[in-house]
Amino acid sequence: MAKIVSIANQKGGVGKTTTAINIAASLAKLGKKTLLVDLDPQGNASMGCKILSSNLEHTVYDVLDQDCKASEVIRATKYSNLNVLPASNSLAGAELALQNMDNSIFRLRDALNEVADSYEYVIIDCPPALGLLTTNALAASDGVIIPVQCEIFSLQGLNDLNSTIKHVMSHYNDKLSLTGIVVTMFNARLILTNAAIDSLSAKFSDKLFGTMISRSVKMSEAQAHGEPICEYDPNGKGAQEYMSVTKELIDRI
Ligand SMILES: Nc1ncnc2c1ncn2[C@@H]1O[C@H](COP(=O)(O)OP(=O)(O)OP(=O)(O)O)[C@@H](O)[C@H]1O
Ligand SMILES: [Mg+2]
Repeated sequence: MAKIVSIANQKGGVGKTTTAINIAASLAKLGKKTLLVDLDPQGNASMGCKILSSNLEHTVYDVLDQDCKASEVIRATKYSNLNVLPASNSLAGAELALQNMDNSIFRLRDALNEVADSYEYVIIDCPPALGLLTTNALAASDGVIIPVQCEIFSLQGLNDLNSTIKHVMSHYNDKLSLTGIVVTMFNARLILTNAAIDSLSAKFSDKLFGTMISRSVKMSEAQAHGEPICEYDPNGKGAQEYMSVTKELIDRI
C-alpha cells in the first residue's frame, strides 16, 4: 500500500510543484515505484515531466468525475519507476463541480485506492488554494509537506494552512500528519531569510526539514525543460538537496 504525501501551501509560487516533481523523481531514482498526481489546473507537474495536456484524452478531472479509473489516465514518464496522473486546465472547473458531487471530499482518496498497491509512494502536487482540491488531497494522504519560501515572508499563511490540516485530520482523515516544512529558494545571504528561518524553527522545531533547497537558476531551467533536476543536472546542488529531502521524507513517513 503506497504512502501518500501531499505538497501543499495556498500561497502561490512557493515551490510546491518543483518540490513535488523532484521528490517524486528522487524516489523513482531510489528505485521506489512512484506516482506523481497533478492536482493543479495549471498542469505544471505534468509539464515538468513532459506530459503535455494537448496530447491527453483524459486527465485527473475525469477521475474525480468518476468517468475514468485512475489506471486508465495514468501515464508513464521516460524515467523508470515514475508515473504521472496528469492535469489540464479542465481541472479549473473541478472546485465548483465537486461541490455538487456526492462524497466530494473523498473522490481522490477513493480513486487512488484502485492503484495504491501498485506504488510505494504517491506524491500529490496541490493548487495554490485551500479549496476542495487541496482538501481532497489531504483527505487521501498519510502526510503533508509544506514548502515555504522565506524570502518573501510567506509565513503568515501557515496558520490558515495548519487549521485546514487540523480540520481535515479531525473530520475526514485521522491518519494524516504534518510530515514537515521544507524551505525552498533559500538564500543565506538575505537577512530576511535568516530571520524567517529563526521564527520557523522556533514555531515548528523538529517539523523543519534539515535540508533546505537553495535558489538556483538550474532549478528553474530544469522545470522549463520539462525535466526533474536529478535528470537535468544530476551532479548539481539542487539534485543533491532534493535527494536529501527525499531520504528525510522516507525516514519521517
Ligand atoms: N530552488 C529554486 N531555485 C530557483 N527557482 C526555483 C526554485 N524552486 C522553484 N523555482 C521556480 O520558482 C517558480 C515557482 O515554483 P513552483 O512552480 O514550484 O511553485 P508553486 O508553489 O508550485 O507555484 P503555484 O502556486 O503557481 O502552483 C517556478 O518558476 C520555478 O521554476
Ligand atoms: Mg504549482
